[in-house]
Amino acid sequence: MLAGTAFAQDLTLSPSTYVDAKTGIDFTNWGTPGENGTGAFNFGFVLPADALQKDATEYIGRLQCQSTNASMTGWCGIAHGGHMPSDLLLMAWPYKNNVYTSFRFVGDYFKPDLFGGETGTNGTSAAFPAPQLSVISTSVNATNYEVIYRCQNCWAWQQGSYNESVHTSLQPGDAESVFVLGWAQATKGPTNPACTGNGLNFGFHDAGYGQWGAPLSNATRTNYTTWTKLATQAPNPGASNDTAASCQAKAAPSAAPTAAARRAVEVNW
Ligand code: HEM
Repeated sequence: MLAGTAFAQDLTLSPSTYVDAKTGIDFTNWGTPGENGTGAFNFGFVLPADALQKDATEYIGRLQCQSTNASMTGWCGIAHGGHMPSDLLLMAWPYKNNVYTSFRFVGDYFKPDLFGGETGTNGTSAAFPAPQLSVISTSVNATNYEVIYRCQNCWAWQQGSYNESVHTSLQPGDAESVFVLGWAQATKGPTNPACTGNGLNFGFHDAGYGQWGAPLSNATRTNYTTWTKLATQAPNPGASNDTAASCQAKAAPSAAPTAAARRAVEVNW
């Protein structure tokens, strides 16, 4: 992995705050300006007021990611829990002056499928209800796209026999509560961006990826409940039916033994 190549990894995400002018939500923000002017990425979040005492099941988030030109390129996302395999992934990409989103899941370093299968609920249970996203706002311009959203049931998930819970409350022995999160960003967008299901066709995150630890002590907000009422929009207006011919998935690439080989297989789709 060479610094400065298209496969830049582990670009440092620096902490800051970002206030959304429309809503007043003051996010705790993690961002990178990218390398060589490409790959700028920002993820912000806020938590319910009591999240340090009692595990939160949700958050309000903001993804702001870079497009390389006015035709709105790219995708970006977050791994709740930090790992690509087995964690709840959220992807976002610009499409028709909107920003589409999709929860994804994969057991290894291959292209992630839709979380919970075609219904988004397979493998979920009463203890691990399906994640749910509602939109507060989206915006796109020539250089970036942004989605502000409420993510419910996003800190504990189950897929098949696997389940995982991320704690926001202080755990015994820990000095402070910290999220381990992962981020990823690609310069090319999905080739069939209206298809939010299993057929969504997209490649490797060539514009940066990595893990980081985000302390939670400055992420709780007394206004949290009020802000949740702003999340009134359903995601992905006008998405295509996943059975449409344009949404049919390409055959999965054959398994390759190394991460580099897998990446190469996927990058060249
Ligand atoms: C075609 C799709 C994808 C492919 C082929 C792919 C492949 C890979 C590979 C090979 C690595 C390991 C790289 C290394 O160790 O050098 C990796 C890491 C990572 N990926 Fe992906 N990925 C894809 C999609 C995604 C998506 C949709 C997300 C999140 C929304 C994501 C998040 C991450 C994160 C956070 C890491 C670093 C942490 C870890 O290694 O688990 N990836 N990916």
